Amino acid sequence: MGAEVSWKRQIGRWMEDHRGLIIVLVVLPLSLLFDYFMRLRHWIFRKFISAPEKHDERVRVIQQKIMKWNKLPQDQKKLMCTARPNWQSLSTTFFRKDLCHKIPIPLYDILELKPDKMTIRVEPMVSVGQVTDFLVPRGYTLAVCLEVAEASLGGLAMGVGMTTYSHKVGLYQETIMAYEMVLADGSFVKVTRDNEYSDLFYTLPWSHGTLGFLVALELQIIKIKPYLKLEYIPVQGQKKYCNMMRDLSGALDKHFETPDYLEATVFNKEEAVVMVGNFSDVPSHEQHKINRVNRWYKPWFYKHVEGFLRKGGDYEYVPLEDYLLRHNRAIFWVVETMISFGNNPIFRFFLGWLLPPKIAFLKFTTTPGVRAMTFTKQVFQDIVLPMNQLEDQINKSEELFDLYPILIYPCRIYDHGPHSGQLRSPRKEQMVPGTNYGMFNDLGVYGVPRLVKEKKRYDAVDAMRQMERFTESLGGYPFLYADTFMTREEFDRMFDLTAYETVRRKYHAVGAFPHLYDKIKPEIDVFAVGKAYMDPL
Ligand SMILES: Cc1cc2nc3c(=O)[nH]c(=O)nc-3n(C[C@H](O)[C@H](O)[C@H](O)COP(=O)(O)OP(=O)(O)OC[C@H]3O[C@@H](n4cnc5c(N)ncnc54)[C@H](O)[C@@H]3O)c2cc1C
Ligand SMILES: *[C@@H]1O[C@H](CO)[C@@H](O)[C@H](O)[C@H]1NC(C)=O
Ligand SMILES: *[C@@H]1O[C@H](CO)[C@@H](O)[C@H](O)[C@H]1NC(C)=O
Repeated sequence: MGAEVSWKRQIGRWMEDHRGLIIVLVVLPLSLLFDYFMRLRHWIFRKFISAPEKHDERVRVIQQKIMKWNKLPQDQKKLMCTARPNWQSLSTTFFRKDLCHKIPIPLYDILELKPDKMTIRVEPMVSVGQVTDFLVPRGYTLAVCLEVAEASLGGLAMGVGMTTYSHKVGLYQETIMAYEMVLADGSFVKVTRDNEYSDLFYTLPWSHGTLGFLVALELQIIKIKPYLKLEYIPVQGQKKYCNMMRDLSGALDKHFETPDYLEATVFNKEEAVVMVGNFSDVPSHEQHKINRVNRWYKPWFYKHVEGFLRKGGDYEYVPLEDYLLRHNRAIFWVVETMISFGNNPIFRFFLGWLLPPKIAFLKFTTTPGVRAMTFTKQVFQDIVLPMNQLEDQINKSEELFDLYPILIYPCRIYDHGPHSGQLRSPRKEQMVPGTNYGMFNDLGVYGVPRLVKEKKRYDAVDAMRQMERFTESLGGYPFLYADTFMTREEFDRMFDLTAYETVRRKYHAVGAFPHLYDKIKPEIDVFAVGKAYMDPL
């Protein structure tokens, strides 16, 4: 037993030391094949099986499957979930779908663009990449359009989404006009803010598929120009960049004319680059200022951004589709932890087009050891926190994880009063004076904590639990796609489940779908695994 463990550890260590090489020689080519296969599958599906006009028919099949489940004897009724395999989802947890009754939701089509209403109606499995390809050439984009091409529009709706436009419109859920749902009894309902199902409307976001199946949704779109004039502002001093972000986001003054897109990358406690972008055409004398940042041979976006700390500030015109997916190629800065030489110009020139490794492929090939590593040796967290305490957030993140860069972008959190769903209303001191919203931000912490990098003992569970306590004390929320370490009591304290529980009973979700807490909690015993992996590999 002991010998076997040390043998495994040695292989493990060798693989750790040569991770980049293994990834380039094995993972990237396989990931590419996998991607081609998935695209082919998708193409065949769209060409021969799927068709927008058959949407209603497909929904009826889903309804029939649920009615059939309803007729099962009580002792054979397992809780329901979608049949979409875990590896296709970006979530870091692997929900035990094998213990559920799986209902296929084969809905991959864009249904209708409604320019007069400035909305688009889509099926839930349409991806961010797919909708961006469709909308941008037509002069639109989603009001809240995530940077990760693989994310699904339905997954974002049942979970949460926010982006660098959110200081204008709030979370993704604020841009949803209607949800079309199939409920536990097989009935179909269209849910809007002010129809008879408004109680569902407010509780569907952050419900993670525990109230019903989403079969279509209507989303707000915005008009765009082909380019974004993007200004990079390097800032020295924590107080200064935090103040600048609060100021530019409109957190201090509701009349302030905010830029269209706003983001900061924090490179260490005292240095950040603030990015301010407005829709724009390119004047003929400034064609040389165009930068297609997503081309395979270009530096990774955050490296490009970091360069302005040395060079001083500047601006560029970035094609909108490049901007929207700017963090895709390096998955923010996660790829660097896998391929340390990935941003080398020679590597980029010859092999840069292999990036990014598909998250679905990485998940598809995840072994239990790799799974344990994803939370004991790496951090993946997006946390919604109030902007008035931005300095505290960065200090806390350094204290617990000590990894950079950190991603920051502002987001309105609306106070919907009794209709706030699972989120609590922002506190008084977090509100923007004279409005019905508070200014929050995404704190994106992705990567390897310093102690792990230095191969020292690191208690990931303890660090994460401290981060969760900190988040709760500020009235914030972690995105639930990431691993959570809260007990049920702590979860209930952070989220307000009052309306959620009522809606669950009213629409027969109890006994038909797992509870939200059970749906999002890690499938492994994080405390046991955390202890086992606390020591360096
Ligand atoms: C490195 C990294 C950075 C990220 N940064 C951001 C960020 O800046 N901003 C942001 O908004 N997000 C970010 N995300 C995460 C993203 O928000 C979530 O992963 C999101 O849920 C993506 O959708 P998905 O397709 O993976 O959803 P899934 O995980 O498939 O779905 C989410 C939930 O909805 C349920 N669901 C899905 N489809 C249906 C349906 N048809 N009916 C009922 N229930 C359904 C699922 O069961 C699941 O519980 C990031 C992720 C990563 C890995
Ligand atoms: C973007 O627009 C805002 C508001 O109109 C303006 O204050 C800012 O200077 C503009 N920035 C750029 C880079 O064009
Ligand atoms: C954050 O850390 C800096 C430097 O360590 C310190 O000067 C500052 O007071 C801290 N800010 C807060 C809000 O704690």
